Amino acid sequence: MNVLILYASNSGSNYHSAVTIADILAQKHRVVIKNASEVQISDIEKAKLIVMGSPSWMVNGEEGMPHEDVLHIMDALQSTRYSQKKFALFGCGDKRYTFFCGAVDHMENFVKKIQAKEVISPLKIDGFYFQLDESIKQIESWSKKLLKAL
Ligand SMILES: Cc1cc2nc3c(=O)[nH]c(=O)nc-3n(C[C@H](O)[C@H](O)[C@H](O)COP(=O)(O)O)c2cc1C
Repeated sequence: MNVLILYASNSGSNYHSAVTIADILAQKHRVVIKNASEVQISDIEKAKLIVMGSPSWMVNGEEGMPHEDVLHIMDALQSTRYSQKKFALFGCGDKRYTFFCGAVDHMENFVKKIQAKEVISPLKIDGFYFQLDESIKQIESWSKKLLKAL
């Protein structure tokens, strides 16, 4: 299966998560990993599974938002219907904020809107760098579950 791992990251935690997920999915699938700022519509078209990850951030004064590059992609695709596409969502956030991993909730709404299929419950990671080993274990375990669900 062609897999696109699309991520945005300001301080690296979502990037590290994306790389860890890619390593595991690449055991059985063709995986392309791209920063959201570099993703073209053709990348989306080629992929059967899109794994999408974003930090939660303050955008235009609103808390718990996806990264602007991810917002840009969702805007560009929002009127397309992708009922044949599979999605899996992840995000690193921080429970001290009002909307913990709010970006993931926005991405879930987007997946519903384009009528695609979410193949696994989203992964929300709290304080990635504060408990690095635990975070990596969480990502590995989720990625293995995802691999089985495909
Ligand atoms: C300005 C700012 C706003 C943030 N807002 C939220 C938020 O609303 N919800 C949340 O769960 N985390 C929030 N975070 C935490 C980040 O999402 C978290 O540190 C994440 O790991 C960053 O991902 P990155 O390392 O890939 O950039 C915020 C962090 C900053 C600096």
